[in-house]
Amino acid sequence: MIPVIGELRPWLDPTQLEMHRLPMRSSLPAGDGLRRSLDGNWLLRLFDHPDLVPAGAVRGATPEPNRQWQAVAVPGNWTLQVDGDAPHYTNVQMPFPGPPPVLPERNPTGVYRRSFTVPHGWSGRRVVVHVGGAESVHAVYVNDRFVGYGTDSRLPSEYDITDVVQTGANHIAVVVMRYSAHSYIEDQDQWWMAGLHRHVFIEARAEVDVADVAIVADYDPAARTGVLTALTTVSFGTAPAPGYTVRTRVETLGGRRVGVGAHQQVPHEHAAPYVFQGHRVVASWPALRVEPWSAESPTLYRVVIELLGPDDQVIDHTDQRIGFRRVEVRDRQLLVNDQPIWVFGVNRHDHHPDRGKAVTVDDMRADLVAMRAHNITAIRTSHYPNDPAFLDLCDELGFYVVAEANIESHGYNDSLCNDARYRAAWLDRGARMVTRDRNHPSVIIWSLGNESGYGVNHDALAGWIRKADPTRPVQYEDATRVEGWLDGGRAATDIVCPMYPSIAAIAEYALNPLADRPLIMCEYSHAMGNSNGSLADYWHTITTTPGLQGGFLWEWKDHTLRRRGPDGVSRLAYGGQFGDTPHDCNFVADGMMSADLEPRPALREVAWVYRPVTVTAVGDELQIENRQSFLGLGWLRARWEHLVDGSPVASGRLDLPDIAPRTSARVPMPSFGAGCEGDSERSLVVRWELQRRAWWAPAGHVVAWDEVTLGGERSAPVPVRVPVRVSGGEPIGMLLTSGPELNLWRAATDNDGFKLMPDLAVRLRIGGQALRRWQEAGVDRLDPADLVHHRSQVHDDEHGTTYRHVVEVPEDLADLARVGVMFTVSGRFDRMRWFGRGPHENYPDRRSSAMLAVWEADIDACPYLIPQEFGLRTDCRWLELIDRVSGQRVRVDAQSDALHMSVTRHLPADLFAAAHVDDLRSRDDVVVCIDVAHRGVGTASCGPDVLEPYRIPAGRHEFAYRLSASRG
Ligand code: GAL
Ligand code: MG
Repeated sequence: MIPVIGELRPWLDPTQLEMHRLPMRSSLPAGDGLRRSLDGNWLLRLFDHPDLVPAGAVRGATPEPNRQWQAVAVPGNWTLQVDGDAPHYTNVQMPFPGPPPVLPERNPTGVYRRSFTVPHGWSGRRVVVHVGGAESVHAVYVNDRFVGYGTDSRLPSEYDITDVVQTGANHIAVVVMRYSAHSYIEDQDQWWMAGLHRHVFIEARAEVDVADVAIVADYDPAARTGVLTALTTVSFGTAPAPGYTVRTRVETLGGRRVGVGAHQQVPHEHAAPYVFQGHRVVASWPALRVEPWSAESPTLYRVVIELLGPDDQVIDHTDQRIGFRRVEVRDRQLLVNDQPIWVFGVNRHDHHPDRGKAVTVDDMRADLVAMRAHNITAIRTSHYPNDPAFLDLCDELGFYVVAEANIESHGYNDSLCNDARYRAAWLDRGARMVTRDRNHPSVIIWSLGNESGYGVNHDALAGWIRKADPTRPVQYEDATRVEGWLDGGRAATDIVCPMYPSIAAIAEYALNPLADRPLIMCEYSHAMGNSNGSLADYWHTITTTPGLQGGFLWEWKDHTLRRRGPDGVSRLAYGGQFGDTPHDCNFVADGMMSADLEPRPALREVAWVYRPVTVTAVGDELQIENRQSFLGLGWLRARWEHLVDGSPVASGRLDLPDIAPRTSARVPMPSFGAGCEGDSERSLVVRWELQRRAWWAPAGHVVAWDEVTLGGERSAPVPVRVPVRVSGGEPIGMLLTSGPELNLWRAATDNDGFKLMPDLAVRLRIGGQALRRWQEAGVDRLDPADLVHHRSQVHDDEHGTTYRHVVEVPEDLADLARVGVMFTVSGRFDRMRWFGRGPHENYPDRRSSAMLAVWEADIDACPYLIPQEFGLRTDCRWLELIDRVSGQRVRVDAQSDALHMSVTRHLPADLFAAAHVDDLRSRDDVVVCIDVAHRGVGTASCGPDVLEPYRIPAGRHEFAYRLSASRG
């Protein structure tokens, strides 16, 4: 049995939060040479249950590696490092039956062992071991002695080991139980992992030392000064003594002093216990001349704290990077430094496809670089505190952060939040997070957690946070879901932060005169597969309706994990692919990015809706709006380009006046001379480029773009302007390997329905219902001509072959996937050129970022993990398929209104049949779809379905196109 606590089994008891754990404190740096990392190789032995861990496993000299004791990396998840215990994915449901706090019969328990050295120079100091994060709960043993026990897998635990270590060689064992009573409040939608996934180190601390520093760095926007309070807590390892002082000063990161330093006595006696507040020193500065911090301009300062002994020698020192800013909710707005901000946000989990929860600083930085390059400037740390290094990066690089407590009881949504056994855990998790992260300027809002119903435990936590940190608003989604947006959940949320609301619902809220809290969606636009429809519609409503400020997309990246299959090939795996049951399949793959940080096409749309500057045409002028809250546009340069029929004919620099933040200005339309007469289509593109290299992109990177139409808009039928050289007598029919034939089916998207989770989709009716409807009507398998009334005409002339189609969709088939045709040509036509929206894939409800121009590209590969419809380019005037070797081209000219076209190497049936993108085989032929109508993509996998204007009505659909072939 595991020593000391084996009999007590604290992991079974939700009230048992910790034993001998030191109080949480802010992340203070260690003095030089006083911290030793214990990261690296440890030996791990797995047991099936904590009761099966023999005392010998944590005692005695560190074992030698053998079959039982395997080397694993710390930080790491053993579920990705050793055989015998795999990751397990569930969303809402728990991975094992309950009820809380009952645990499964098999509860893998790992004993980590290693030895370490305590340097000579550390004698006379206290020694502390820091366990950065252990999933789910852990116990620590040093030199055979029990040291402590801790819960909350996403926050560090520290234990004083002074009395059990010796100078020189020591050994440590950390026992980690995979599941515990606390798993029921760590039921987030992610992989269940296990192990020591964050840093472990030991540290020497002075006998009398700075135990914690809590800083409030307020900014007074009217006076333009910083208002600073630094509260330093001193801890006395021995009896408190007189004569200790604390010196506090503020400086720039370059070391320049700001204001005068403070030097204060540490209260030491308990002579007046009634008024004694602790060994605390409060230094304050009412008006410092400083630059404010914001995500746009993240100016940091440093507070340096020195503790001096009675002999006036510095015995301990530490520092904190801070930023001066004020966050308020006032007049239905979230304000930073008195200015409303747009919340261009995304939800981010800690995730790496190989390392799981053990993300490195480089991983975090890579996320942030890619976010910033797509104009994302706000992050919700869904759904738990991240490594402190993440907040350091956000402080430094400039991101607004909603810091969320590690509390989610989704599987037992409505009970645990009122369960007294979990009350202490609720409070502890939130309070420890605030204590650790309060000094970070990037954290502008505290979140009480996610999807845990709404109960007394929430109000208790909110009350604690509001008293401990009155400088930040508190938010919690379920409080208003349960009690209503208008007046519900006030005790737990200062912000109405719904998830996946419809546009109509947020507008209705904001227009209600009784609404007095800002609405910022904690989750919206679920990026599962081909998704994120109506992003631009959301942002149109957000930017035109006071009271709405934006939200956090769901979610930054897929959580897939690289797994080597029996065939020896590695692929990115989703739920169930590790033999994990029950599971929620590909719900774990709902990112704007793949787990490998490959951007999905929708991320272009995100970059566009989140752009910091917009351009629209108003009469003869361009209206330019600076959407930033603090900066001018000087960091960007604007270039315009005049397009005629999609091709540039003139370009130049746009001269700009100063445009203050959150204001707009008009400038004359650039004049472009000749070339714009007749019925040519004309547009003006304005691109905003980075003037100088930024930490997130090179100079010249296009930050924002807009295209305004200048008239000459097309009317049907399209006049034939481009002369086509018909290939020497070769009728187009010879080049087609099949079709054109009527096509009403697209390989269902994750939003159309969950093809891999029919139980969810069909029985429980969760997610989009379009797929179920189509399947019931046989759209996926019947001859389309049997479903709709279809007439077509074919006409040959010297320009090619023209096809005209009339399709009558009956009432009961309204809301089809598409109405169009499909044909195939030889695979040698592997490049495409088109005049339509691009360059990236776009759909009727996700195309604002796609400019109407002439584009050229290779044929897309399926960008989605679960094969589904992809590759559409809307509003095509024409499209050419190019054989690069012979120069031969097959050309499609829309002869009616512009048509939507896609070119891929897969039939819809191929895509629908495949369960993983790596199972997809390219056809030899190229598959071309031409649609007069194509259903939007919506976000029905979790959220609103495709909006009415982007659905396909019943009735008559008419279209025509000409196919021709040419050489070179
Ligand atoms: C939300 C939840 C997220 C995730 C998402 C669906 O309900 O907060 O954690 O589950 O839905 O992907
Ligand atoms: Mg959940």
